[in-house]
Amino acid sequence: MREETIRISQEELQRQRDFARQVRCHPDRPKSYYIVTYGCQMNAHDSEKLAGMLEEMGLEPAAERTAADFVLHNTCCIRDNAERKALGNVTWLKEVKKERPDMLIGVCGCMIQQQEMAQKLLKQYPFIDVAFGTGNLYRLPEYLWQAVSNHERVIRVENEASTLAEGLPIHRESDIKAYITVMYGCNNFCSYCIVPYVRGRERSRRADDIVREADELVKSGVKEIMLIGQNVNSYGLDSDEGVSFAQLLHRVSQTGIERIRFMTSHPKDLSDALIDEMAHNPAVAPHLHLPVQAGSNRILQAMNRRYTREQYLEKVQKLRAAIPHIGLTTDLIVAFPGETEAEFEDTLSLVEQVRYDSAYTFIYSPRKGTRAAEMPGRIAPDVASARIERLIALQEKITGEVLASMRGEIVQALVEGVSRRRENQLTGKTGRNINVNFNGAPDDIGKMVRVRITGAGSNTLRGEKVEE
Ligand code: SAH
Ligand code: SF4
Ligand code: F3S
Repeated sequence: MREETIRISQEELQRQRDFARQVRCHPDRPKSYYIVTYGCQMNAHDSEKLAGMLEEMGLEPAAERTAADFVLHNTCCIRDNAERKALGNVTWLKEVKKERPDMLIGVCGCMIQQQEMAQKLLKQYPFIDVAFGTGNLYRLPEYLWQAVSNHERVIRVENEASTLAEGLPIHRESDIKAYITVMYGCNNFCSYCIVPYVRGRERSRRADDIVREADELVKSGVKEIMLIGQNVNSYGLDSDEGVSFAQLLHRVSQTGIERIRFMTSHPKDLSDALIDEMAHNPAVAPHLHLPVQAGSNRILQAMNRRYTREQYLEKVQKLRAAIPHIGLTTDLIVAFPGETEAEFEDTLSLVEQVRYDSAYTFIYSPRKGTRAAEMPGRIAPDVASARIERLIALQEKITGEVLASMRGEIVQALVEGVSRRRENQLTGKTGRNINVNFNGAPDDIGKMVRVRITGAGSNTLRGEKVEE
């Protein structure tokens, strides 16, 4: 089911910029916006693009959503609760709109890209003014123009998610850390996962475009770049440029960026070349998010993950041999259809063996249209809850032990701001992506400093700045 990437032409993007200008000049246009973002880094970064386009149309950020003229919900549908949360918040806003009839309510993102969603919105959510999927996000100016100039509902969900639009305006959340998308979409079709259906096929950006963006960020003072994609390790496989992810990482580091991270890595595509680049390139943070999902080979196969427990553990061993201080994190799903007690315990034993810094744990949630949703052996909710609690307890214990063992280490921390807990305390992130609080003055914010670890809480470190 190979679909071709649809590169959005510069003419089309110019047409969108023309719409943006028209919206800006329209007397009845919304003056302020608020974006509510759900889901992963992709969505967080898409929201930065949506904000960029809205600002091009002359809208300014509102302090809270009830005060905004245009409230846009950038949704996620990875699990049922993500979807319910988004729909609940959209419905809640209906009441606010009763008091402020001029308010425009928008919904976009992965939830909207699902099949039959457009019909559902048209019928059941008449108060939604603007809706569009992931594939046509770049057309927001056109949609807002239609909503403002014709006072019409604009529900535009195309079947096509596999688009690639280069050069959209971006309003970045932080001037210290920045996301760069390296690829869109996913071809893996893990049997439980909706992402390939709502984000389309894998499509890589050109290496030169990525490096240029990184270069501009470095010049503007950004200290940390996170390269993002659903499966960054297969970067470039869909293009004829011949640049691998390891090579891309190397090129991005040559811009002089202080720290690079990347997410997410699929274990089956983690190459020796990438491990080697991580080991020898001091700009690459010593952290890898390597979702394992489950510890049982039967479950891994049913999930269509295309690696075994043994192959995964071998990659972990290689990583630790090459980068002794690497911090590993993971995603885990419990109660996949048919998961037996013994198979769940295989996940526990794998977690004990790897000793992750931390883990995101999820109860399996059936997604319509995916293969696993049709599989027999649904696990009862009370069993699923008991399993996730055992898993969380185990990971918390390990996290505590890993953090405690860092006492005495000197680490590089990127200072992100003032600690919420205590005055005169700064908070930063270590290379392993762990929060560290330490005494310091606000002029260190945005800088990379050396910190000696003096203690640990349940998921943060305490430290003291090491004066140069
Ligand atoms: N592309 C990334 C992450 C995708 S979504 C990857 O492959 O790792 C993030 C996490 O959500 C997944 O790693 C998985 O653990 C979880 N997830 C995805 N679909 C799910 C479902 N139907 N039920 C429960 N958890 C799910
Ligand atoms: Fe979903 Fe699997 Fe793709 Fe990750 S790799 S986005 S879990 S299908
Ligand atoms: Fe959710 Fe879409 Fe990300 S479904 S996890 S926001 S790719």
